[in-house]
Amino acid sequence: MKKILTALALLGLVVAGTAAIAAEEEHNAAAPTHFPINEPKEMSWSFAGPFGTYDKAQLQRGLKVYKEVCSACHSMNLVAFRTLEGLGYSEAQIKTLAAEYTIHDGPNDAGDMFDRPGKPSDHFPSPFPNEQAAASANGGAAPPDMSLLAKARGVERGFPRFIFDIFTQYAQGGPDYIHSLLTGYDQTPPAGMVIPEGTHYNPYFLSGVSLKMPKPLSDGQVTYDDGSPQTVDQYSRDVSAFLMWAAEPHLEERKKTGFRVLVFLLLFGALVYLTKRKVWAEVAH
Ligand code: HEC
Repeated sequence: MKKILTALALLGLVVAGTAAIAAEEEHNAAAPTHFPINEPKEMSWSFAGPFGTYDKAQLQRGLKVYKEVCSACHSMNLVAFRTLEGLGYSEAQIKTLAAEYTIHDGPNDAGDMFDRPGKPSDHFPSPFPNEQAAASANGGAAPPDMSLLAKARGVERGFPRFIFDIFTQYAQGGPDYIHSLLTGYDQTPPAGMVIPEGTHYNPYFLSGVSLKMPKPLSDGQVTYDDGSPQTVDQYSRDVSAFLMWAAEPHLEERKKTGFRVLVFLLLFGALVYLTKRKVWAEVAH
């Protein structure tokens, strides 16, 4: 009886969930009250799944896109230059890269603040002196810091998908979102939709019909030396992968450790089971 009841309850949940999704979709078609208008496209990432690893060449390209394009507006102030060793750069290369940035430091012995070239121990600085300046230069919205952006953004997957995500180990919501957002400009808004002045329509934006960030990328903007396509799509993939690395540089170790722990638990479980059998073998039932 209990089992039947549980099964019925589960069935009810599934039906309710499906009905809710259908109702929501119908509703969106008229006037969007639920964002994003379009869900992010699921991409295939090298770092997905239980054995995922970063593609270093891709991360290096992503860094180049960040450096040449995004860093004009977005800081990344939790990421130190020296951690770029993880992308395969040598100490000398990192020193040169850090020195390209100006760091506002101080106060010195005379009590004054001063500017100096960056060192490997510095973090990617903000191009603006403070948040207010950043907002006023961007039509009132400060560009968010990018250190954890790939983990902080990600569209809610809703029932029942978030249940399947546990089994498929889907954790790429952030990079999927960033890629879709960056490639989601240049679309005509549906007739009747009001786009506020000074904002840019993007059906993938999480919190409205449009955002203050103008389309940041265009084809051919960043030169790649490894022959990868110089397209908005490729730039967006690379910079999204790079931002995932910035937010979670130890992802590979985490996955490796997880796998080892599972293997250990399996073996340990088998040993415990065999021990139990041996101990109970002599006991009369
Ligand atoms: C001209 C300045 C500028 C440049 C260049 C720029 N951004 Fe932005 N970005 C902004 C602003 C401003 C916002 C905040 C938009 C808002 O909230 O309306 C933003 C927001 C974002 C967001 C967050 C959207 C959200 O869900 O809140 C992401 C992701 C993003 N930018 C990625 C990038 C990437 C990747 C690049 C480089 C390819 C880049 N941006 C280049 C100004 C810029």
